[in-house]
Amino acid sequence: MISNALEKARSYEAAAERGIDPGQRPGFHLGARTGWMNDPNGFGLYKGQYHLFYQYHPYDSHWGPMHWGHAVSRDLLHWDYLPCALAPDQPYDEAGCFSGSALELPDGRHVLMYTGVSRRTEPDGSTRLIQTQCLAFGDGENYEKYEGNPVLTEKDLPEGGSPYDFRDPKLLQLPDGSFRCLVANDNRDGGGQILLYESQDLLRWRFVCAAAANRGRLGLMWECPDLFTLDDTRVLLLSAQDMLPQGFEYHNGNGTVALLGEPDPVDEALRERADQAVDYGIDFYAPQTILTPDGRRIMVGWLQNWDTCNQHFRNYPWFGQMSLPRELFVRGGRLCQRPLRELERLRGEALCFTGLRLPGGELALPGVRGRMMELELELIPDGGLYQRFSLRFAKNQAYHTSVSFRPHESVLKVDRKFSGSRRAIIHQRRAKVDHEAGRLKLRLILDRFSCEVFVGGGEKVLSMAVDTPLEADGVSLFSDGQVSVNLTYRPLIP
Ligand code: FRU
Repeated sequence: MISNALEKARSYEAAAERGIDPGQRPGFHLGARTGWMNDPNGFGLYKGQYHLFYQYHPYDSHWGPMHWGHAVSRDLLHWDYLPCALAPDQPYDEAGCFSGSALELPDGRHVLMYTGVSRRTEPDGSTRLIQTQCLAFGDGENYEKYEGNPVLTEKDLPEGGSPYDFRDPKLLQLPDGSFRCLVANDNRDGGGQILLYESQDLLRWRFVCAAAANRGRLGLMWECPDLFTLDDTRVLLLSAQDMLPQGFEYHNGNGTVALLGEPDPVDEALRERADQAVDYGIDFYAPQTILTPDGRRIMVGWLQNWDTCNQHFRNYPWFGQMSLPRELFVRGGRLCQRPLRELERLRGEALCFTGLRLPGGELALPGVRGRMMELELELIPDGGLYQRFSLRFAKNQAYHTSVSFRPHESVLKVDRKFSGSRRAIIHQRRAKVDHEAGRLKLRLILDRFSCEVFVGGGEKVLSMAVDTPLEADGVSLFSDGQVSVNLTYRPLIP
């Protein structure tokens, strides 16, 4: 049964989409079909196709009552929209269908687990929003909300857990067929915690333990957990609100954290060994991962940041996009990333420049321009250590965005101050990077309205949305001091 709210969203998006020029959308990143997109939801395989749902407000390019948008892909790069999957249409989700996850069940059904948000009148007469976990079962396109919803409520919280911040269930199925579910929660005593539940049938759940707890270290409330084992390391991903910067880590206010460790043999909690930022750019939040049939752990995040995402004008036809899917691996005790290898299938003819000596000013390269491209660079000091190297792109007389490296400080900086924003918000982010006396490798992926910079062997990544008119498509190199550059340019053709 399709509710009026869902029917309305489906006919609205189908009509609104016709007014959006596909050439003004990302080429191989998933953007909102129309209106607003935030977190990836329900990322996974179902009946041989990748499904990616997302937090969605079709009627406006700003956040509003949350629906689930829906798209499918065979290669994680070419996406087809499917009709909106969930609308807030039940008493337990009247104020929004918040983030969650999905699984293919052995009986062939697709299950979505999401957070239902509803209003409750408190004993003092005030109204507050409470959050519970709900299920919907479907066939990959249409979903029926479970009549016994919600399946996890305030009564399932451990002592001190807040019913107002209890969201973003991540469903897992173990080899023995039983289910686990991680839910983000706020604990009265110390901020975010990730609660672990266990079930045999998805309908009745039992609290196991807090898989990890913030204890006042990393921001306040935690959101959007994900958990997996990678190269013998247990990795818990979470998105932390209201973080304080620590040195060069966690500059984003709302930041994404990886906790690395081992599972506790007794209660499945995480024995933490280290924590790190997942992305060092301006825009990356709420990632989810999947395991592909060939054994790769792939991550997709929202290519935006809550601190800056509300600065655009209302008349945007769409707002919000996903990051490039990234392959995760652990090296030297760190969670590292490389671009999805299927991206190589989009490569056009390469132009290679070897041993380019920069004149100590700006240099444009013949044939290197566009807004969908891959650039591989190797910087090699040429004489003494240079002061600075910069790459500018999405560039014309009016606009440019840059990536700069200062080897004396070991600092790599992305800067989109001149990208076309009319707002005085943060447009720069810096990361400390490893290099060998000024030698550094960078790999940039540009897709019309985004740039993702993979540093070295993928030890660090800096991502940002770039909102520059597409006619700004120039690229140039700049140096202060002698540096020699090997550069490979490849247009990407989706
Ligand atoms: C994270 C988040 C989630 C919530 C959703 C609401 O970006 O705040 O915790 O479910 O967005 O849209």
